Amino acid sequence: MQRAAARVLRGARTPPARTRSATARAPPPRGLLYERHGEPAAVVQLKDLEVAELRDSDVHVKMLAAPINPADINMIQGTYAILSPLPAVGGNEGVGEVLEVGRRVTALKPGDWVIPAAAGVGDSVIQNAANSGVGQAVIQIAKASGIKTINVVRDRPDLPKLVERLMALGADHVITEEMLRKPEMKDIFKSIPKPRLALNCVGGKSTTEMLRHLQPKGTMVTYGGMAKQPVMVPVSTFIFRDVRLRGFWMTQWKKDHAQDQESLTSMMDALCQLIRRGQLTAPACTEVPLQDYKAALEATMKPFASSKQILLF
Ligand SMILES: NC(=O)c1ccc[n+]([C@@H]2O[C@H](COP(=O)([O-])OP(=O)(O)OC[C@H]3O[C@@H](n4cnc5c(N)ncnc54)[C@H](OP(=O)(O)O)[C@@H]3O)[C@@H](O)[C@H]2O)c1
Repeated sequence: MQRAAARVLRGARTPPARTRSATARAPPPRGLLYERHGEPAAVVQLKDLEVAELRDSDVHVKMLAAPINPADINMIQGTYAILSPLPAVGGNEGVGEVLEVGRRVTALKPGDWVIPAAAGVGDSVIQNAANSGVGQAVIQIAKASGIKTINVVRDRPDLPKLVERLMALGADHVITEEMLRKPEMKDIFKSIPKPRLALNCVGGKSTTEMLRHLQPKGTMVTYGGMAKQPVMVPVSTFIFRDVRLRGFWMTQWKKDHAQDQESLTSMMDALCQLIRRGQLTAPACTEVPLQDYKAALEATMKPFASSKQILLF
């Protein structure tokens, strides 16, 4: 069972000189994969893993040994409280050897032995106004980080077109605000874990419904209030699920980090890297000559616009 390590190995490229001679003759990395839930012996298969590029903060680990625990069996059967996105590699524990580290990794070096710090399930994020400029960036950054996204948008006449556009950006699920209440939401969480993070820029009913799907002890960050409605939280959400609510304002974050330019610079560097790799693109834009500013202002305030108005000077 090599689930946790396989997530890392998926990024494996050429091993460093120290291990190259040993691994050059070795077969490609393999993992015990399952594409659907069921009886482990029937659904688990030994398969070659997809190999991707080592990024600056990545560590490539070759698993040396891993136990099969009851929780692993239940995850494969689909009966455990948290489930990995499918297809998945089974297992959560074990010991591995570091093969290669990214440019920014200083705490580990090739040859070190490591164990998974936490159970190796993928995370997920739920967000509303997912077609906003911010929402589209969230979809792309999450995709590049291996995090699944559940994206809530308002219903509209051309919904299939919008869904297709967000899926092409890397969204895993696109749903309407109305669907948040439907029993079919359970189907989504058969293949991806319930989110630990909700991003809210709407408020009102959409936000209350979105909160239902957050994991216990999950966090909702409110960064906007497009519906101009307060955030309503059922008392049971606090008492029985201990959900945490936070706010975020970029202006304040910059003030708080004014003495710590390193944080801002490294965030910008990480975003620029994604842009250069083509993993983060700007939202659709409409260029407007400055003198047509009134039309641009009106267009910005219309619903379902899906395009940023850019004034050209
Ligand atoms: N806290 C911060 O530091 C920070 C920084 C930047 C942005 N923001 C906030 O982030 C949010 C998105 O900004 P943006 O520049 O990315 O926006 P944007 O691209 O102009 O998109 C606006 C979004 O709001 C949705 N919307 C408008 N009215 C709505 C309503 N009544 N109910 C539900 N959704 C509604 C639109 O959906 P439709 O397509 O359905 O109309 C669209 O998805 C805004 O609330 C903005 O104030 C916060």
